[in-house]
Amino acid sequence: MGCCFRSVTKFTTWTCVLVFLLSCFSFSSSEAYDALDPNGNITIKWDVITWTPDGYVAVVTMFNFQQYRHIQAPGWTLGWTWAKKEVIWSMMGAQTTEQGDCSKYKGNIPHCCKKDPTVVDLLPGTPYNQQIANCCKGGVINSWVQDPNNFASSFQVSVGAAGTTNKTVRVPKNFTLQAPGPGYTCGPAKIVKPTRFVSQDGRRVTQAMMTWNVTCTYSQFLAQKTPTCCVSLSSFYNDTIVPCPTCTCGCQNNATQPGSCVDPKSPYLASVVSGSSKNNYAPLVQCTSHMCPVRVHWHVKLNYKEYWRVKVTITNFNYRMNYTQWNLVVQHPNFDNLTQVFSFMYKPLNPYQAINDTAMLWGVKFYNDFLSSAGPLGNVQSELLFRKDTSTFTFDKGWAFPRRIYFNGDNCVMPPPDAYPYLPNTSSRPDVSMLTLMLTLLSSLVFIYANA
Ligand SMILES: *[C@@H]1O[C@H](CO)[C@@H](O)[C@H](O)[C@H]1NC(C)=O
Ligand SMILES: *[C@@H]1O[C@H](CO)[C@@H](O)[C@H](O)[C@H]1NC(C)=O
Ligand SMILES: *[C@@H]1O[C@H](CO)[C@@H](O)[C@H](O)[C@H]1NC(C)=O
Ligand SMILES: *[C@@H]1O[C@H](CO)[C@@H](O)[C@H](O)[C@H]1NC(C)=O
Ligand SMILES: *[C@@H]1O[C@H](CO)[C@@H](O)[C@H](O)[C@H]1NC(C)=O
Ligand SMILES: *[C@@H]1O[C@H](CO)[C@@H](O)[C@H](O)[C@H]1NC(C)=O
Ligand SMILES: *[C@@H]1O[C@H](CO)[C@@H](O)[C@H](O)[C@H]1NC(C)=O
Ligand SMILES: *[C@@H]1O[C@H](CO)[C@@H](O)[C@H](O)[C@H]1NC(C)=O
Ligand SMILES: *[C@@H]1O[C@H](CO)[C@@H](O)[C@H](O)[C@H]1NC(C)=O
Ligand SMILES: *[C@@H]1O[C@H](CO)[C@@H](O)[C@H](O)[C@H]1NC(C)=O
Repeated sequence: MGCCFRSVTKFTTWTCVLVFLLSCFSFSSSEAYDALDPNGNITIKWDVITWTPDGYVAVVTMFNFQQYRHIQAPGWTLGWTWAKKEVIWSMMGAQTTEQGDCSKYKGNIPHCCKKDPTVVDLLPGTPYNQQIANCCKGGVINSWVQDPNNFASSFQVSVGAAGTTNKTVRVPKNFTLQAPGPGYTCGPAKIVKPTRFVSQDGRRVTQAMMTWNVTCTYSQFLAQKTPTCCVSLSSFYNDTIVPCPTCTCGCQNNATQPGSCVDPKSPYLASVVSGSSKNNYAPLVQCTSHMCPVRVHWHVKLNYKEYWRVKVTITNFNYRMNYTQWNLVVQHPNFDNLTQVFSFMYKPLNPYQAINDTAMLWGVKFYNDFLSSAGPLGNVQSELLFRKDTSTFTFDKGWAFPRRIYFNGDNCVMPPPDAYPYLPNTSSRPDVSMLTLMLTLLSSLVFIYANA
């Protein structure tokens, strides 16, 4: 932070702000703490519904208490280690991936005898007699903000060779959650107050025999070694398009890693993409200087007298991924006066009540909530209209660019602040030109139209 104490030249203050933000990020990435969603977690709740002669039946529910991080296909995988010699007699709404060695059982064979079972959700279309509420979505769970009715996933498990009272039962250990792939760390199971269930007509309340909770938190640092997303910038007042930093997510290195990316003009494109194994979720990206699977472009598009307008474009460079129910989190001080969002859904996020400078944006269902894999259709776009607050608004010092962007909950790498497109210093007020006057006139028309 030494730069803050030197004489303040054109970019130093701005650089300091960014250095500060970056240092916040490096902190958040290693500490599994996300400043924009400080309480975000996935809670796994075990409710023992009944005791059985040799164990219990429990309903296990995963709640995604994260504002903007969802679990997309191929869905979650949950594992744990039994404390004693428990077995799973049967499951509803989910299954273990392996049965394990049940050779000592005769007649009634358990569903799973492994000491460390791994559970996956069932797929949509599972017969009703194998379902329970909130199951069978292929392990896909939406984020809390994006779909408050679809942020949980449940299954029922019948456990044998276990304790049969709240004094003899032992809670499972070492929970692991893949969603999909690494990134989550789960704490120990904690015995909590038994859950109360209210009947549908609200006339009766029942209670679990015993309940324990496990909390899992996400760290981008654990999920992948390299970033997955970058930001490029441009503006109407400067012709320079500031690209994503070179090698943000990897380098195009033909010598040591041929085939680390795909040239879209390659005649073998189709075979490379389809030939890649269906179960491989490592990105297969289009060759670019940044090599990122996703790029977010922020273009400061128009300047009106009282408003200004930004165009945001998200481009998918990954041939191996269709991003379903994608979301974007953007931090910019003018979000407290956001006037209109075109063709994206919007919700303000204000983790620290006082300032609402952070927005969550996501696609409109059946219109642009599907960000198709790399290729001509692999992008979605929107425009944002902000009302100027004369006390803070400026095009100077990169103020019009976002402070921070997340795609699907992962931080996108910004260009270095000294590369930001800046105002030509001949006129510090660009809105005197004839062109801008016309644009301003036009804007009022567009604005009326937009509000009609
Ligand atoms: C998990 O998230 C919920 C909802 O935000 C919150 O109430 C709870 O305290 C969080 N749990 C932990 C352990 O952070
Ligand atoms: C077990 O159940 C008894 C009542 O049946 C209750 O008093 C006790 O607190 C419970 N213990 C635990 C650990 O839940
Ligand atoms: C749980 O995981 C820790 C660390 O990975 C390991 O040392 C411990 O033995 C595991 N416990 C069980 C019961 O598997
Ligand atoms: C356990 O989890 C449930 C569901 O997320 C939550 O309602 C409850 O408050 C949690 N209990 C504790 C003590 O965290
Ligand atoms: C990699 O190969 C492509 C075309 O095959 C070429 O355009 C590019 O310059 C090469 N990159 C390096 C770093 O050699
Ligand atoms: C993406 O979606 C398209 C259209 O639904 C499909 O043809 C393609 O196979 C999907 N790609 C991947 C990698 O899942
Ligand atoms: C700022 O946050 C408050 C509280 O969440 C919200 O009601 C308000 O609409 C937000 N303002 C804007 C301009 O989004
Ligand atoms: C911007 O939003 C803040 C808080 O919502 C409000 O107090 C202020 O008047 C707004 N400014 C303009 C120019 O609308
Ligand atoms: C546009 O911004 C770049 C920095 O990204 C700067 O080098 C260039 O001089 C600016 N152009 C004008 C016309 O000011
Ligand atoms: C504009 O400002 C920059 C940085 O302050 C300076 O390097 C450049 O010479 C200036 N250009 C003109 C035309 O004054």
